[in-house]
Amino acid sequence: MRIDVVTIFPGYFDALELSLMGKARDRGLIDLHVHDLRDSAHDKHRTVDDTPTGGGAGMVMKPEPWGAALDGILVGAGAGSDAASEAGEQPLAEPAAEPLIIFPSPAGEVFTQAMARELAHEQHLVFGCGRYEGIDQRVFEEYAERGRVRLVSIGDYVLNGGEVASIAMVEAIGRLLPGVVGNPDSLVEESHEAGLLEYPSYTKPAEWRGRRVPDVLLSGNHAAIDAWRHEQSVERTRRVRPDLLGD
Ligand code: ADE
Repeated sequence: MRIDVVTIFPGYFDALELSLMGKARDRGLIDLHVHDLRDSAHDKHRTVDDTPTGGGAGMVMKPEPWGAALDGILVGAGAGSDAASEAGEQPLAEPAAEPLIIFPSPAGEVFTQAMARELAHEQHLVFGCGRYEGIDQRVFEEYAERGRVRLVSIGDYVLNGGEVASIAMVEAIGRLLPGVVGNPDSLVEESHEAGLLEYPSYTKPAEWRGRRVPDVLLSGNHAAIDAWRHEQSVERTRRVRPDLLGD
């Protein structure tokens, strides 16, 4: 999967060089490109924001740098790219899938495991990280008219910008790509995969500070272990997240 990120803080994305995401990149499973929005601002101060039209607090991100940055990424990407058709070029034998642009925003639809699974089928994702009071609305309109755009929130709280939200989404999506997680069985029993929270896990020793591992897990009876784990998942979900059970 190809992933482009546009941000004024490229350093945030150094985190994606670590651990499983770093390995997935080294192995070519995730092709991540991070772009500094200021490289697309052409005044001497590399300005990316301005005061809100109509008044109000804070600053709004200007449309021109976003237009230049996103156009630069979209050139040549996608089956019906304007650049290719305007130049009268033959379509590629294997046309690239049209990119999906995601703008992380607390005003967006809520990101879920189901959405991560859906997005893991995309070939090309572009994350546009807004800051301040957001991005000029015309940027969303322009790219929604030309292609696919989604505003996505990672939860009902407000972050300082889209960077942390993008990292969370890239990790949730990236670990679902074939080959990224070594043992794919470990993806199956996780929280949210079956609409339930994950059951509690234990390892050795069998007793630690007087706390024993539940006997059933030491019994070797796999049917009983599966049943116990399922009960624990249901009980935990009912207690912590009854909304997931529709209660
Ligand atoms: N930007 C600021 N807050 C956010 C959130 N909760 N989700 C996604 N992007 C955001």
